[in-house]
This record gives sequence, C-alpha cells and structure tokens, in this order.
Amino acid sequence: MTAAYPALRLRRTRASGWSRRLHAENTLTPADLIWPLFVTEGQGVEEPIATLPGVSRWSLDGIVARAKEARDLGIPCLALFPNTPPDRRSDDGAEAANPDNLMCRATRAIKDAVPDIGVLTDVALDPYTAHGHDGLVDEAGYVLNDATVEALVAQSLNQARAGADVIAPSDMMDGRIGLIRAALEGEGFVNVQIMSYAAKYASAFYGPFRDAVNTRGLLKGDKKTYQMDPANAQEALREVALDLAEGADSVMVKPGLPYLDIIRQVKDRFAVPVFAYQVSGEYAMIEAAVAAGAADRDAMVLETLLAFKRAGCSGVLTYHAAHAARLLGA
Ligand code: PBG
Repeated sequence: MTAAYPALRLRRTRASGWSRRLHAENTLTPADLIWPLFVTEGQGVEEPIATLPGVSRWSLDGIVARAKEARDLGIPCLALFPNTPPDRRSDDGAEAANPDNLMCRATRAIKDAVPDIGVLTDVALDPYTAHGHDGLVDEAGYVLNDATVEALVAQSLNQARAGADVIAPSDMMDGRIGLIRAALEGEGFVNVQIMSYAAKYASAFYGPFRDAVNTRGLLKGDKKTYQMDPANAQEALREVALDLAEGADSVMVKPGLPYLDIIRQVKDRFAVPVFAYQVSGEYAMIEAAVAAGAADRDAMVLETLLAFKRAGCSGVLTYHAAHAARLLGA
C-alpha cells in the first residue's frame, strides 16, 4: 500500500544532499576495487599504452610502487598481467609454468613489500603463446580443451607457489576449476582462492588489453570457440553453476557494463560473491569521451562503478581503480 500524489512525492527524499545520502541504496568505496596492472621487464621502466591512455606497463620497481599506492588508497587487491618478452613466447606457452617468470617475480616482490594487499593472478596462456590464444592449438588452429587444462593447472600451482592469493582463470576451458582446485588442495594451498572468469564473452571490448600484453598482432582468428556468445544469458548461468560446483570461491562476469543483466541474474540465482571486469575497451570508451569533451571523467567513472554495485557486484576490476579511490577518499 502506498499513498498517491500529492501525498506521495518521490522527489521529497531527493530534495537535499543529506537526504539523498541517507536514502542511497548502494555505496561505492575503495574496498570495492581491484586494480589491474601490467608488468614488464627491466628497471625503472614505464611504458604508456597508446590505446589505454593513462595506463602504463611497469617494471617490478614500478609495480611495487603501485602496490604501495593501492594500499594507501584502501584498494584491497591487485590483478597482474605480464607483457612476456617475445623470445619467451612459444607455441606451448611453457613460460607460464616458469617459477621465475614476470608474474611470479612481481607477485613475490609485492608480497615482500606490501604483504597486506591481495594479489590476483590471471590464469590463461595468451600472454605466453606465440599465437596469442588462451590455450594450446592443434594443426587446424582449434584450441584444445583437456591439454590446455593440464597446462593451466601447472600455471596455477606456479602462481600459488609464488604467493598468489587469488587464482583467476580467464581461459573458459571446460573443467579447469575442478582440476585447479584439486591441485591446490593437493599441495596444501587450502586458502588460495579461485575467482573464476565464469561468464566471459567473446567481446569486441578487449582490444586495448591485447595491446597492453602485446597479443593483438599475434592472435590468429578469434576466441569464439571458447569464450561465450554475447547472445547468451542462460548459458552464463550454466557456466557459473559448473564453476561453483567445481570449487570457485567467487565468479566474474566480463565485460562489465554491457553485461549488467548477467551480473544481476547470477547474483539472484546463486547468492555468491560476483565480480565484474570493466574491461579495457570500456575504459578506453570513457577516456575517448572525456578527450572529446563529451563527458566528465570523475562523474562517469563513479557512476559506472556504482552501477556494478547496484547490479549485485561485490567488487569491480577497473583500470580507473586508483583514480576512483582517490575521488572516494577525498
Ligand atoms: C585473456 C584475457 C583478456 C582479458 C583478460 N584476460 C583478453 C582476451 O580474452 O582476449 C581482457 C581484459 C581487458 O580487456 O581489460 N586471458
């Protein structure tokens, strides 16, 4: 039962700032943010990424500086991605299992310098393969499932041994969560989390990321035989159900804003922690709109991030994390 106009005026509670704050149904804080960072070789290296204006690759010293910055801003977790040197990329992506690869060195450096920040490591072969696919390919160019999963298990254990807190498989192979979970348990990593990229779509929004990890020029074909069809929502729920049954602690939907309907359905159906990845193309769209004078960056960043909370997210991976945390802390 609700009153009718004029007894009911929904604008009453919106009429002043204190009241809007009091009636806000959702809030955004720095604790909702995961900051993706790109790691590169060298010392004192910062390489700006042209298609991701404002985002750079950093050598280990810079990565550690970013980790301290994140801690000081109240950001709880970092997500790491390597720009593997060309001579370390191969058809089988063996560098992914090298205990001294960029990811492992970055993870150890962060955990040494800033032990109280979470480190999430991406599991997939694309930054390590000569063909840019997330898995192993056969002669016909098909990405093999079961052989890839074996490599992903080795990659996951490698990252856990280096100190990763959250293993985040982004490859979309069938069955990998269960096998990764069993391997982690088998080695005693009982508190290493798995955040599964459960519903990851074959999307046009990943272009700048592929520049950041230098896979755009390498990638043969597309990823539609393993990443999801943007037409599908029920299939996303099946993917999430499987990953949860196999031992995922949390699930991710990716990209973000174009898939808010999926986030809401996953949250309503499963009542588990859901994360969104506001991906590189989404970031680039905001920055392009700002550069064109068509948008106010601060307002657009905060509005889009709050939208993820409203849709049911526990948190968001975003390249705007440090900027947003600064705005929220002010
Ligand atoms: C690949 C991976 C991708 C992203 C994260 N992990 C790209 C892809 O699937 O081709 C995209 C992130 C972004 O666009 O910001 N395993």
